[in-house]
Amino acid sequence: MKILGIETSCDETAAAVIEDGRVICSNVVASQAEIHARYGGIVPEVASREHMLAIVPVARQALADAGLELRQLDGVAVTHGPGLAGSLLIGVNAAKGLALAEGLPFLGVNHLEGHVYAAWLEEVDPEREPGFPLVCLIASGGHTDLILMQDHGRFTLVGRTRDDAAGEAFDKAARVLGLGFPGGPEIQEASKASNGKEPPFTRPRIKNSLDFSFSGLKTAVLRRAEERGLYPPSDDSEPRPQDVANIAGAFQDAAVDVMVQRTVEAAGRYRAKGVLLGGGVAANLLLREEMDRHSPVPVIVPRPSLCTDNGAMIGAAAYYRLRSGAQHQWDLDVVPDLRLG
Ligand code: KG4
Ligand code: ZN
Repeated sequence: MKILGIETSCDETAAAVIEDGRVICSNVVASQAEIHARYGGIVPEVASREHMLAIVPVARQALADAGLELRQLDGVAVTHGPGLAGSLLIGVNAAKGLALAEGLPFLGVNHLEGHVYAAWLEEVDPEREPGFPLVCLIASGGHTDLILMQDHGRFTLVGRTRDDAAGEAFDKAARVLGLGFPGGPEIQEASKASNGKEPPFTRPRIKNSLDFSFSGLKTAVLRRAEERGLYPPSDDSEPRPQDVANIAGAFQDAAVDVMVQRTVEAAGRYRAKGVLLGGGVAANLLLREEMDRHSPVPVIVPRPSLCTDNGAMIGAAAYYRLRSGAQHQWDLDVVPDLRLG
């Protein structure tokens, strides 16, 4: 079963052809990161406009790379939420047009379910599927959710952030430290030069809950940057790369620690057979290492390029739904605050 997966929920225009939920026949991602970097964050109107320009060439490229004509596909799937309304609309309308043109099955996919299924892409041996239940940590620029996956398509939300998403905290910490956007990879890179002498940040913890909170950590980074004269940026202040590296490192340690601790706790509580990571923040190397070190069960994590937004994960998630007969009608709308579980 070959499915075209389309993703435009945020700032990546992406399309991919996926066979049987696992094999990547093509995977095209047009990132707008450079355009938004100028503004230090994503500008929704700019994102929609860029999606509009990119969607047709990206979808065409995905078909061409796979060596397929539209009519040879078995379905068209698209992220219909959560995400930016204007951005989602471009993808959903493009997908409807393509599916309608050839009378193909059409399916809207939850973006977060897509991040979960990124782990199945060429990573999971079809003979040895991970056992359920799985505890999934989906951490991105808009979400930090702990999801219990009992089976294909069966999800329960067991923890979530009460304020900022983990990726948002990385982005904001990077901005305060004068690093670029997106902040996650910048913080990871800057942390390499840390000398480890930075006093640790307090780990935020919500009692009797698997929820997260990152806004206190973000404020603590801001305070420390102010104390060291790194923020607000001024022309005459000397660059202090060692302080930047140290604070970035201490921030990354704290953020990773909190995510690992909660995920491991959830895995124990729900007797999980595995822990699955997804979302842009799952590309973080320290998070991957620390999760591996502390998890009592195997950790399944897609390669970094499949952790950030892409169409392949949407095609993978759609396979399991289409296979069981699910399909959407042409009146499917975008749902910017769609939840999983
Ligand atoms: O899943 P994603 O591509 O888009 C959303 O759905 O939000 O995630 C983007 C987020 C950004 O906040 C970015 O800073 C973060 O993922 N990110 C990382 C890393 N790479 C991307 N965070 C920490 N470490 C990384 N290596
Ligand atoms: Zn995402």
